[in-house]
Amino acid sequence: MKFSKNILETIGNTPLVKLNKIVEGIDALVLAKVETFNPGNSVKDRMAVKMIEDAEADGRLQPGGTIIEGTSGNTGMGLALVAIIKGYKLICVISDKQSKEKMDILRAVGAKVVVCPTDVEPTDPRSYYSVSKRLASETPNSWYVNQYDNMSNSLAHYEQTGPEIWEQTDGKITHFVVGVGTGGTISGVGRYLKEKNPNIKIWGIDTYGSVFKKYHETGIFDENEIYSYITEGIGEDILPKNVDFSLIDGFTKVTDKDAAVYTRKIALEEAIFVGNSAGACIKGLHQLKEHFKPEDVVVVLFHDSGSRYVGKMFNDDWMRERGFLDENITKAEDVIKDHIDKQLIVVRTEELVSHAIERMRKYKISQIPVVDINGFVGSVDETDLFRSYVADKNVAEKPIKEVMGKPFPIVKLATPIEEVSKLFTKENDAVLVDLENGNHHIITKYDIIGSIK
Ligand SMILES: Cc1ncc(COP(=O)(O)O)c(C=O)c1O
Repeated sequence: MKFSKNILETIGNTPLVKLNKIVEGIDALVLAKVETFNPGNSVKDRMAVKMIEDAEADGRLQPGGTIIEGTSGNTGMGLALVAIIKGYKLICVISDKQSKEKMDILRAVGAKVVVCPTDVEPTDPRSYYSVSKRLASETPNSWYVNQYDNMSNSLAHYEQTGPEIWEQTDGKITHFVVGVGTGGTISGVGRYLKEKNPNIKIWGIDTYGSVFKKYHETGIFDENEIYSYITEGIGEDILPKNVDFSLIDGFTKVTDKDAAVYTRKIALEEAIFVGNSAGACIKGLHQLKEHFKPEDVVVVLFHDSGSRYVGKMFNDDWMRERGFLDENITKAEDVIKDHIDKQLIVVRTEELVSHAIERMRKYKISQIPVVDINGFVGSVDETDLFRSYVADKNVAEKPIKEVMGKPFPIVKLATPIEEVSKLFTKENDAVLVDLENGNHHIITKYDIIGSIK
Protein backbone atom coordinates (compact mmCIF):
# COMPACT_ATOMS: atom_id res chain seq x y z
CA MET A 1 0.00 0.00 0.00
CA LYS A 2 1.15 3.54 -0.72
CA PHE A 3 0.08 6.08 1.86
CA SER A 4 1.48 8.98 3.83
CA LYS A 5 1.84 8.64 7.61
CA ASN A 6 0.12 11.99 8.00
CA ILE A 7 -0.68 15.05 5.88
CA LEU A 8 2.74 16.63 6.52
CA GLU A 9 4.38 13.91 4.44
CA THR A 10 2.54 15.18 1.36
CA ILE A 11 4.34 18.53 1.45
CA GLY A 12 6.67 19.25 -1.47
CA ASN A 13 7.33 17.57 -4.84
CA THR A 14 4.95 20.03 -6.45
CA PRO A 15 4.57 19.98 -10.25
CA LEU A 16 6.43 22.18 -12.71
CA VAL A 17 4.03 23.26 -15.44
CA LYS A 18 4.78 24.89 -18.80
CA LEU A 19 3.03 28.24 -19.26
CA ASN A 20 1.67 28.91 -22.72
CA LYS A 21 -0.74 31.73 -23.54
CA ILE A 22 0.07 34.04 -20.63
CA VAL A 23 3.76 34.16 -21.62
CA GLU A 24 3.17 34.93 -25.31
CA GLY A 25 5.75 37.55 -26.26
CA ILE A 26 8.42 36.07 -23.99
CA ASP A 27 11.09 34.27 -25.98
CA ALA A 28 11.96 31.43 -23.60
CA LEU A 29 10.54 28.27 -22.07
CA VAL A 30 8.63 29.43 -18.98
CA LEU A 31 7.79 26.86 -16.31
CA ALA A 32 5.72 27.46 -13.19
CA LYS A 33 6.39 25.69 -9.90
CA VAL A 34 2.80 25.43 -8.69
CA GLU A 35 2.94 25.42 -4.89
CA THR A 36 -0.82 25.21 -4.39
CA PHE A 37 -0.38 21.44 -4.54
CA ASN A 38 0.89 21.52 -0.96
CA PRO A 39 -1.72 20.46 1.63
CA GLY A 40 -2.06 24.02 3.01
CA ASN A 41 -2.32 25.26 -0.59
CA SER A 42 0.85 27.31 -0.42
CA VAL A 43 4.64 27.16 -0.54
CA LYS A 44 4.70 28.11 3.13
CA ASP A 45 3.95 24.57 4.31
CA ARG A 46 7.56 23.75 3.54
CA MET A 47 9.13 26.36 5.79
CA ALA A 48 6.47 25.91 8.51
CA VAL A 49 7.59 22.31 9.05
CA LYS A 50 11.25 23.23 8.90
CA MET A 51 10.96 26.13 11.35
CA ILE A 52 9.02 23.98 13.84
CA GLU A 53 11.34 20.99 13.55
CA ASP A 54 14.43 23.16 14.04
CA ALA A 55 12.84 24.84 17.08
CA GLU A 56 11.97 21.43 18.54
CA ALA A 57 15.50 20.20 17.94
CA ASP A 58 17.20 22.99 19.88
CA GLY A 59 14.53 23.29 22.59
CA ARG A 60 13.01 26.69 21.62
CA LEU A 61 9.69 24.86 21.23
CA GLN A 62 8.67 22.55 24.07
CA PRO A 63 5.96 19.84 24.05
CA GLY A 64 2.42 21.31 24.28
CA GLY A 65 3.78 24.83 23.72
CA THR A 66 2.10 27.78 21.98
CA ILE A 67 3.41 28.87 18.60
CA ILE A 68 3.03 32.62 17.92
CA GLU A 69 3.52 34.24 14.54
CA GLY A 70 2.77 37.43 12.65
CA THR A 71 1.55 35.97 9.40
CA SER A 72 -0.37 37.08 6.32
CA GLY A 73 -2.16 33.78 6.32
CA ASN A 74 -0.18 31.27 4.30
CA THR A 75 2.52 30.73 6.91
CA GLY A 76 -0.25 30.55 9.50
CA MET A 77 -1.93 27.79 7.51
CA GLY A 78 1.31 25.83 7.26
CA LEU A 79 2.02 26.28 10.98
CA ALA A 80 -1.57 25.29 11.80
CA LEU A 81 -1.25 21.98 9.97
CA VAL A 82 2.00 21.16 11.75
CA ALA A 83 0.57 22.33 15.11
CA ILE A 84 -2.41 19.97 14.75
CA ILE A 85 -0.30 16.96 13.84
CA LYS A 86 2.31 17.66 16.52
CA GLY A 87 -0.02 18.87 19.29
CA TYR A 88 0.83 22.58 19.66
CA LYS A 89 -1.41 25.64 20.10
CA LEU A 90 -1.14 28.46 17.54
CA ILE A 91 -1.80 32.22 17.71
CA CYS A 92 -1.63 34.09 14.38
CA VAL A 93 -1.25 37.87 14.41
CA ILE A 94 -2.49 39.22 11.11
CA SER A 95 -2.80 42.71 9.56
CA ASP A 96 -6.25 44.08 8.72
CA LYS A 97 -5.27 44.36 5.02
CA GLN A 98 -5.51 40.59 4.66
CA SER A 99 -8.59 39.04 3.11
CA LYS A 100 -11.38 37.84 5.39
CA GLU A 101 -11.14 34.43 3.75
CA LYS A 102 -7.55 34.09 4.99
CA MET A 103 -8.62 34.82 8.57
CA ASP A 104 -11.56 32.40 8.39
CA ILE A 105 -9.36 29.66 6.98
CA LEU A 106 -6.87 30.07 9.83
CA ARG A 107 -9.67 29.77 12.39
CA ALA A 108 -10.95 26.69 10.56
CA VAL A 109 -7.64 24.95 11.26
CA GLY A 110 -7.67 25.80 14.93
CA ALA A 111 -5.58 28.97 15.09
CA LYS A 112 -6.47 31.91 17.30
CA VAL A 113 -6.37 35.03 15.08
CA VAL A 114 -5.42 38.50 16.37
CA VAL A 115 -6.00 41.35 13.86
CA CYS A 116 -3.77 44.48 13.84
CA PRO A 117 -3.87 47.74 11.79
CA THR A 118 -1.73 47.87 8.60
CA ASP A 119 -1.02 51.58 8.41
CA VAL A 120 1.25 51.92 11.43
CA GLU A 121 5.05 51.88 11.71
CA PRO A 122 6.60 48.46 12.40
CA THR A 123 7.86 49.89 15.71
CA ASP A 124 4.35 51.07 16.73
CA PRO A 125 3.01 48.94 19.63
CA ARG A 126 -0.13 48.19 17.53
CA SER A 127 1.83 46.83 14.53
CA TYR A 128 1.67 43.14 13.95
CA TYR A 129 5.42 42.84 14.49
CA SER A 130 5.10 44.44 17.95
CA VAL A 131 1.92 42.60 18.95
CA SER A 132 3.42 39.22 18.01
CA LYS A 133 6.51 39.94 20.10
CA ARG A 134 4.45 41.13 23.08
CA LEU A 135 2.18 38.06 22.98
CA ALA A 136 5.24 35.84 22.85
CA SER A 137 6.71 37.44 25.97
CA GLU A 138 3.39 37.27 27.85
CA THR A 139 2.33 33.71 26.93
CA PRO A 140 3.93 30.94 29.04
CA ASN A 141 5.67 28.10 27.16
CA SER A 142 5.41 29.99 23.88
CA TRP A 143 7.73 30.36 20.92
CA TYR A 144 7.74 33.33 18.53
CA VAL A 145 8.47 31.99 15.06
CA ASN A 146 9.48 35.23 13.29
CA GLN A 147 9.52 33.97 9.71
CA TYR A 148 11.31 37.16 8.61
CA ASP A 149 14.50 36.54 10.56
CA ASN A 150 14.18 32.80 11.21
CA MET A 151 16.78 31.27 8.90
CA SER A 152 15.04 27.87 8.89
CA ASN A 153 12.65 29.61 6.46
CA SER A 154 15.15 29.98 3.62
CA LEU A 155 16.84 26.72 4.64
CA ALA A 156 13.61 24.84 3.83
CA HIS A 157 13.81 26.16 0.27
CA TYR A 158 17.54 25.46 0.05
CA GLU A 159 16.88 21.86 1.09
CA GLN A 160 13.66 21.19 -0.87
CA THR A 161 12.35 23.74 -3.37
CA GLY A 162 15.74 24.50 -4.91
CA PRO A 163 16.73 20.83 -5.45
CA GLU A 164 13.25 20.01 -6.82
CA ILE A 165 13.52 22.79 -9.41
CA TRP A 166 17.07 21.75 -10.32
CA GLU A 167 16.02 18.12 -10.83
CA GLN A 168 12.76 18.90 -12.61
CA THR A 169 14.62 21.06 -15.16
CA ASP A 170 17.52 18.58 -15.49
CA GLY A 171 19.80 21.39 -14.40
CA LYS A 172 18.79 23.44 -17.47
CA ILE A 173 17.21 26.31 -15.55
CA THR A 174 18.73 29.68 -16.51
CA HIS A 175 16.50 32.13 -14.56
CA PHE A 176 14.41 31.99 -11.40
CA VAL A 177 11.81 34.75 -11.04
CA VAL A 178 9.81 35.01 -7.81
CA GLY A 179 7.89 37.38 -5.53
CA VAL A 180 9.76 38.43 -2.39
CA GLY A 181 8.17 38.83 1.04
CA THR A 182 10.20 37.35 3.88
CA GLY A 183 12.78 36.41 1.26
CA GLY A 184 12.77 32.74 2.27
CA THR A 185 11.83 31.43 -1.16
CA ILE A 186 14.18 33.57 -3.26
CA SER A 187 17.16 33.20 -0.93
CA GLY A 188 16.85 29.45 -0.30
CA VAL A 189 16.14 28.51 -3.92
CA GLY A 190 18.60 31.13 -5.18
CA ARG A 191 21.46 29.89 -3.00
CA TYR A 192 20.94 26.26 -4.05
CA LEU A 193 20.72 27.10 -7.75
CA LYS A 194 23.73 29.44 -7.72
CA GLU A 195 25.80 26.77 -5.95
CA LYS A 196 24.86 24.36 -8.74
CA ASN A 197 25.43 26.92 -11.51
CA PRO A 198 26.56 30.46 -10.68
CA ASN A 199 25.31 31.70 -14.08
CA ILE A 200 21.67 31.20 -13.12
CA LYS A 201 20.02 34.59 -12.74
CA ILE A 202 17.75 35.25 -9.75
CA TRP A 203 15.13 37.99 -10.13
CA GLY A 204 12.86 39.28 -7.37
CA ILE A 205 9.40 40.71 -7.87
CA ASP A 206 8.70 43.70 -5.65
CA THR A 207 5.71 46.00 -5.29
CA TYR A 208 5.27 49.80 -5.18
CA GLY A 209 5.27 50.75 -1.51
CA SER A 210 8.14 48.38 -0.62
CA VAL A 211 11.82 49.04 0.10
CA PHE A 212 13.47 46.06 -1.62
CA LYS A 213 14.24 47.31 -5.14
CA LYS A 214 15.79 50.60 -4.10
CA TYR A 215 17.75 48.98 -1.26
CA HIS A 216 19.15 46.38 -3.65
CA GLU A 217 20.18 49.00 -6.20
CA THR A 218 21.55 51.69 -3.90
CA GLY A 219 22.05 50.21 -0.44
CA ILE A 220 19.72 52.93 0.86
CA PHE A 221 16.76 52.03 3.08
CA ASP A 222 14.48 54.79 1.83
CA GLU A 223 11.46 55.39 4.04
CA ASN A 224 9.89 57.45 1.23
CA GLU A 225 9.46 54.20 -0.66
CA ILE A 226 7.10 52.93 2.06
CA TYR A 227 3.37 53.44 1.62
CA SER A 228 0.39 51.13 1.82
CA TYR A 229 -0.36 48.93 -1.15
CA ILE A 230 -2.91 46.33 -2.16
CA THR A 231 -0.79 43.47 -3.50
CA GLU A 232 -0.60 40.63 -0.99
CA GLY A 233 2.35 38.50 0.05
CA ILE A 234 5.23 40.49 -1.46
CA GLY A 235 7.15 43.66 -0.61
CA GLU A 236 8.14 44.83 2.88
CA ASP A 237 8.74 47.93 4.95
CA ILE A 238 11.59 46.17 6.75
CA LEU A 239 14.69 44.25 5.66
CA PRO A 240 14.10 40.63 6.76
CA LYS A 241 17.24 38.58 7.50
CA ASN A 242 15.92 35.97 5.06
CA VAL A 243 16.42 38.29 2.08
CA ASP A 244 19.99 37.65 0.95
CA PHE A 245 20.46 40.60 -1.42
CA SER A 246 23.83 39.25 -2.59
CA LEU A 247 22.09 36.31 -4.32
CA ILE A 248 19.59 38.49 -6.17
CA ASP A 249 20.51 39.85 -9.61
CA GLY A 250 17.72 42.41 -9.73
CA PHE A 251 14.21 43.43 -8.72
CA THR A 252 11.32 44.74 -10.77
CA LYS A 253 8.30 46.46 -9.21
CA VAL A 254 4.75 45.65 -10.30
CA THR A 255 1.73 47.92 -9.68
CA ASP A 256 -1.29 46.79 -7.65
CA LYS A 257 -3.50 47.01 -10.72
CA ASP A 258 -1.18 44.95 -12.93
CA ALA A 259 -0.76 42.31 -10.21
CA ALA A 260 -4.55 42.02 -9.81
CA VAL A 261 -5.24 41.92 -13.57
CA TYR A 262 -2.57 39.26 -14.15
CA THR A 263 -3.83 37.15 -11.24
CA ARG A 264 -7.13 36.85 -13.13
CA LYS A 265 -5.40 36.27 -16.45
CA ILE A 266 -3.45 33.26 -15.14
CA ALA A 267 -6.70 31.53 -14.16
CA LEU A 268 -8.40 32.36 -17.47
CA GLU A 269 -5.50 31.66 -19.83
CA GLU A 270 -3.67 28.77 -18.12
CA ALA A 271 -6.42 27.21 -15.98
CA ILE A 272 -4.13 27.64 -12.97
CA PHE A 273 -6.06 29.20 -10.07
CA VAL A 274 -3.38 30.95 -8.04
CA GLY A 275 -2.99 33.97 -5.80
CA ASN A 276 -2.10 37.62 -6.14
CA SER A 277 1.69 37.30 -5.93
CA ALA A 278 1.57 34.92 -8.93
CA GLY A 279 -0.08 37.71 -10.93
CA ALA A 280 2.65 40.13 -9.86
CA CYS A 281 5.23 37.51 -10.80
CA ILE A 282 3.92 37.03 -14.35
CA LYS A 283 3.57 40.76 -14.98
CA GLY A 284 7.12 41.21 -13.65
CA LEU A 285 8.29 38.48 -16.02
CA HIS A 286 6.90 40.48 -18.95
CA GLN A 287 8.67 43.58 -17.65
CA LEU A 288 11.93 41.61 -17.70
CA LYS A 289 11.45 40.02 -21.12
CA GLU A 290 14.50 41.59 -22.78
CA HIS A 291 16.67 39.55 -20.39
CA PHE A 292 15.55 36.21 -21.89
CA LYS A 293 16.74 34.33 -24.98
CA PRO A 294 14.86 31.54 -26.83
CA GLU A 295 17.06 28.77 -25.36
CA ASP A 296 16.51 29.96 -21.77
CA VAL A 297 14.56 27.99 -19.19
CA VAL A 298 12.81 30.41 -16.86
CA VAL A 299 11.16 29.12 -13.70
CA VAL A 300 8.56 31.19 -11.87
CA LEU A 301 6.98 30.15 -8.58
CA PHE A 302 3.30 30.47 -7.72
CA HIS A 303 3.07 30.81 -3.94
CA ASP A 304 -0.57 30.22 -3.11
CA SER A 305 -4.11 29.48 -4.25
CA GLY A 306 -6.65 31.80 -5.87
CA SER A 307 -9.30 30.62 -3.42
CA ARG A 308 -7.86 33.02 -0.84
CA TYR A 309 -8.67 35.98 -3.09
CA VAL A 310 -12.25 35.25 -4.22
CA GLY A 311 -13.53 38.33 -2.38
CA LYS A 312 -10.77 40.49 -3.86
CA MET A 313 -8.95 40.09 -7.19
CA PHE A 314 -11.54 37.56 -8.40
CA ASN A 315 -14.48 39.79 -7.50
CA ASP A 316 -15.67 42.26 -10.19
CA ASP A 317 -17.07 44.81 -7.72
CA TRP A 318 -13.83 44.85 -5.72
CA MET A 319 -11.83 45.32 -8.92
CA ARG A 320 -14.16 48.01 -10.27
CA GLU A 321 -14.09 50.01 -7.01
CA ARG A 322 -10.32 50.29 -7.37
CA GLY A 323 -10.40 51.10 -11.08
CA PHE A 324 -8.71 47.78 -11.89
CA LEU A 325 -11.26 46.64 -14.49
CA ASP A 326 -10.50 47.89 -17.97
CA GLU A 327 -14.08 48.62 -18.90
CA ASN A 328 -14.92 51.02 -21.66
CA ILE A 329 -16.73 53.91 -20.04
CA THR A 330 -18.22 56.05 -22.81
CA LYS A 331 -21.80 56.76 -21.71
CA ALA A 332 -23.72 57.70 -18.53
CA GLU A 333 -25.09 54.14 -18.49
CA ASP A 334 -21.56 52.67 -18.12
CA VAL A 335 -20.88 54.70 -14.97
CA ILE A 336 -23.97 53.56 -13.08
CA LYS A 337 -24.15 49.96 -14.18
CA ASP A 338 -22.66 48.43 -11.02
CA HIS A 339 -25.13 50.22 -8.71
CA ILE A 340 -28.13 50.51 -10.98
CA ASP A 341 -30.05 47.96 -8.89
CA LYS A 342 -29.84 50.22 -5.82
CA GLN A 343 -32.79 52.46 -5.08
CA LEU A 344 -32.37 56.24 -5.57
CA ILE A 345 -32.44 57.94 -2.18
CA VAL A 346 -34.52 61.16 -2.19
CA VAL A 347 -36.07 63.60 0.29
CA ARG A 348 -39.37 65.44 -0.09
CA THR A 349 -39.66 69.23 0.09
CA GLU A 350 -41.80 69.00 3.26
CA GLU A 351 -39.47 66.64 5.13
CA LEU A 352 -37.12 68.16 7.69
CA VAL A 353 -33.38 68.72 7.33
CA SER A 354 -32.92 66.14 10.12
CA HIS A 355 -34.50 63.53 7.82
CA ALA A 356 -32.06 64.32 5.04
CA ILE A 357 -29.13 64.14 7.46
CA GLU A 358 -30.32 60.79 8.80
CA ARG A 359 -30.57 59.41 5.24
CA MET A 360 -27.14 60.72 4.28
CA ARG A 361 -25.63 59.02 7.33
CA LYS A 362 -27.50 55.77 6.83
CA TYR A 363 -26.60 55.40 3.14
CA LYS A 364 -23.17 57.10 3.45
CA ILE A 365 -23.98 59.64 0.73
CA SER A 366 -23.04 63.31 0.41
CA GLN A 367 -25.95 64.63 -1.66
CA ILE A 368 -29.66 63.91 -2.12
CA PRO A 369 -32.15 64.99 -4.81
CA VAL A 370 -35.30 66.71 -3.50
CA VAL A 371 -38.68 65.77 -4.98
CA ASP A 372 -42.29 66.94 -4.81
CA ILE A 373 -45.31 65.71 -6.77
CA ASN A 374 -43.96 67.41 -9.90
CA GLY A 375 -40.63 65.54 -9.83
CA PHE A 376 -37.10 66.77 -9.06
CA VAL A 377 -37.27 70.30 -7.68
CA GLY A 378 -34.06 70.70 -5.74
CA SER A 379 -31.08 69.09 -4.05
CA VAL A 380 -29.21 69.16 -0.76
CA ASP A 381 -25.57 68.39 -0.28
CA GLU A 382 -23.11 68.49 2.60
CA THR A 383 -21.94 72.01 1.73
CA ASP A 384 -25.50 73.45 1.67
CA LEU A 385 -26.25 71.83 4.99
CA PHE A 386 -23.03 73.03 6.56
CA ARG A 387 -23.67 76.64 5.40
CA SER A 388 -27.26 76.56 6.68
CA TYR A 389 -26.10 75.17 10.02
CA VAL A 390 -23.51 77.93 10.47
CA ALA A 391 -26.23 80.53 9.77
CA ASP A 392 -28.82 78.90 12.02
CA LYS A 393 -28.03 76.21 14.61
CA ASN A 394 -31.69 75.06 14.61
CA VAL A 395 -31.56 74.14 10.95
CA ALA A 396 -32.35 70.45 11.65
CA GLU A 397 -36.00 71.30 12.34
CA LYS A 398 -36.51 73.31 9.13
CA PRO A 399 -38.26 71.91 6.05
CA ILE A 400 -35.95 70.88 3.24
CA LYS A 401 -37.45 73.41 0.81
CA GLU A 402 -35.96 76.23 2.90
CA VAL A 403 -32.37 75.06 2.55
CA MET A 404 -32.36 73.16 -0.75
CA GLY A 405 -30.28 74.17 -3.77
CA LYS A 406 -30.95 73.77 -7.47
CA PRO A 407 -32.08 70.39 -8.80
CA PHE A 408 -29.37 68.19 -10.34
CA PRO A 409 -29.25 68.23 -14.16
CA ILE A 410 -30.82 65.17 -15.85
CA VAL A 411 -29.10 63.23 -18.65
CA LYS A 412 -30.07 60.20 -20.77
CA LEU A 413 -28.55 56.72 -20.47
CA ALA A 414 -26.75 57.28 -23.79
CA THR A 415 -25.37 60.75 -22.95
CA PRO A 416 -21.60 60.69 -23.68
CA ILE A 417 -19.42 60.76 -20.57
CA GLU A 418 -17.67 63.96 -21.79
CA GLU A 419 -21.03 65.80 -21.69
CA VAL A 420 -21.91 64.34 -18.29
CA SER A 421 -18.60 65.45 -16.81
CA LYS A 422 -19.12 69.05 -18.02
CA LEU A 423 -22.24 69.24 -15.82
CA PHE A 424 -20.09 68.88 -12.69
CA THR A 425 -19.22 72.33 -11.35
CA LYS A 426 -18.34 73.90 -8.01
CA GLU A 427 -22.07 74.32 -7.40
CA ASN A 428 -23.18 70.97 -8.77
CA ASP A 429 -21.91 67.66 -7.33
CA ALA A 430 -24.19 65.19 -9.08
CA VAL A 431 -26.14 64.38 -12.23
CA LEU A 432 -29.36 62.38 -12.53
CA VAL A 433 -29.77 59.75 -15.22
CA ASP A 434 -33.22 59.14 -16.70
CA LEU A 435 -33.49 55.33 -16.86
CA GLU A 436 -36.29 55.66 -19.41
CA ASN A 437 -38.60 53.46 -17.32
CA GLY A 438 -39.99 56.17 -15.05
CA ASN A 439 -37.03 55.88 -12.63
CA HIS A 440 -33.84 57.85 -12.22
CA HIS A 441 -30.36 57.12 -10.92
CA ILE A 442 -27.56 59.35 -9.71
CA ILE A 443 -23.94 59.87 -10.82
CA THR A 444 -21.73 61.59 -8.25
CA LYS A 445 -18.29 63.08 -8.81
CA TYR A 446 -16.88 60.03 -6.98
CA ASP A 447 -18.38 57.79 -9.66
CA ILE A 448 -16.65 59.87 -12.31
CA ILE A 449 -13.32 59.79 -10.43
CA GLY A 450 -13.76 56.02 -9.92
CA SER A 451 -14.07 55.54 -13.66
CA ILE A 452 -10.67 57.17 -14.32
CA LYS A 453 -8.06 54.53 -15.25
C1 LIG B 1 1.08 34.79 -1.33
C2 LIG B 1 2.53 34.97 -1.06
N1 LIG B 1 3.32 35.29 -2.07
C3 LIG B 1 4.63 35.50 -1.90
C4 LIG B 1 5.22 35.41 -0.67
C5 LIG B 1 6.69 35.71 -0.53
O1 LIG B 1 7.45 34.57 -0.24
P1 LIG B 1 8.68 34.68 0.73
O2 LIG B 1 8.17 35.09 2.08
O3 LIG B 1 9.29 33.32 0.75
O4 LIG B 1 9.61 35.74 0.19
C6 LIG B 1 4.42 35.10 0.43
C7 LIG B 1 4.99 35.05 1.77
O5 LIG B 1 4.74 35.81 2.65
C8 LIG B 1 3.04 34.86 0.23
O6 LIG B 1 2.23 34.55 1.26
